[in-house]
Amino acid sequence: MTGEVTPGEVAPEGDHADGKHASHAARTHVVTHLPGDGVGPEVTDVARACVDAVAARHDFHIDWRSCPLGGRHYLQTGEVLPDATLEELRKSDAILLGAVGTPEVPPGVLERGLLLRLRSELDLYVNLRPSKLRAGVAAAVGKHELSDLDFVIVRENTEGLYAGAGGSVHRGTEFEVATEESLNTWAGVRRCVRYASRLAASRSGRLTLVHKTNVLTHAGDLWFRIAREVAAEDGVELSYAHVDAACLWMVDDPKRFDVIVTDNLFGDIISDLGAALTGGLGYAPSGNLNPDRTGPSIFEPVHGSAPDIAGLGLANPAGAVLSAGLMLSHLGEEAAAADLDAAVSAVLAAGAPASTALWREQLLAELGVAR
Ligand SMILES: NC(=O)c1ccc[n+]([C@@H]2O[C@H](COP(=O)([O-])OP(=O)(O)OC[C@H]3O[C@@H](n4cnc5c(N)ncnc54)[C@H](O)[C@@H]3O)[C@@H](O)[C@H]2O)c1
Repeated sequence: MTGEVTPGEVAPEGDHADGKHASHAARTHVVTHLPGDGVGPEVTDVARACVDAVAARHDFHIDWRSCPLGGRHYLQTGEVLPDATLEELRKSDAILLGAVGTPEVPPGVLERGLLLRLRSELDLYVNLRPSKLRAGVAAAVGKHELSDLDFVIVRENTEGLYAGAGGSVHRGTEFEVATEESLNTWAGVRRCVRYASRLAASRSGRLTLVHKTNVLTHAGDLWFRIAREVAAEDGVELSYAHVDAACLWMVDDPKRFDVIVTDNLFGDIISDLGAALTGGLGYAPSGNLNPDRTGPSIFEPVHGSAPDIAGLGLANPAGAVLSAGLMLSHLGEEAAAADLDAAVSAVLAAGAPASTALWREQLLAELGVAR
């Protein structure tokens, strides 16, 4: 477990337990570990150990920093995301996040003040959520061949209904009005679709736009026109699915999908369905990406802080480890990322471990690290 650090600070940790000194490694990446609350520290500690194991194997070094932000920190200090901490976070090459949230913190404080603010300040305009069925995982629904279910959802991450536009008047009276507005800018939609289209070009060449163009005609028209234009420019085959039909097909016929691009709200919802189809929230990784690399990207498991199982040693770290794999891939360490992915698959194929400690032991054994 990462030790306590001075409130709000991003603290260096020096050389890590892999015993490899930075000066001996060919490459160094600065990564801030933001463990957060509940099971966040438990699952990201496993991910860190795995990252250090593959770093040693592939001749690079992670210069770990640590940052205590989250629900517990907020309750102790009143800090959500101090400006000075944000400036420190900007200096990292990447951020590995557990999950934030404790039952005592009112809804919205951390979501808006920390998570959404980080996405906006660091311009993390793509949320990447792969869904891949692996041998040894019982899918919640459907009877699929492993190769049937391997798609990636590219969710727009800074606009739509999560942009914070809206308000309420006459609160607490019978005349109360509450509005949430979906913001969709030409540039914001286009850069997200461009990322998805290039990702599709690097995979099967197939891109699906998921929206609700028949009802949300204004935003839908903008998304549709941009998707058609960008896909044509990149030579990618574009298909379209209404979000309700997409949910049905993800269950009934998932091989229709390879790369899906969609807006913030639809992406949030359908990626949880993707997680359910591939074993549950514990298995689902994500990356909040700044594809232009003007700031660090954030990698985190899709699940939350799971206060119901925190401290019991039962948390599944697979989503965190796979998120760390996405991080290594983003940092250019493709071979190391592939090793992490293969280690998770190998452990699962032998039967999913029943505890976080067993996961750690079996993953490290797969990665060639003796206990
Ligand atoms: N990005 C984030 O930091 C993030 C995301 C979602 C929720 N949250 C926060 O997390 C807290 C709990 O939220 P919730 O209960 O709605 O969602 P959750 O994802 O924490 O838990 C939902 C269910 O899934 C189980 N679960 C989650 N992760 C697991 C894992 N790794 N292994 C095994 N089981 C796992 C939990 O035990 C629980 O039954 C809230 O404070 C919420 O705001 C944070």
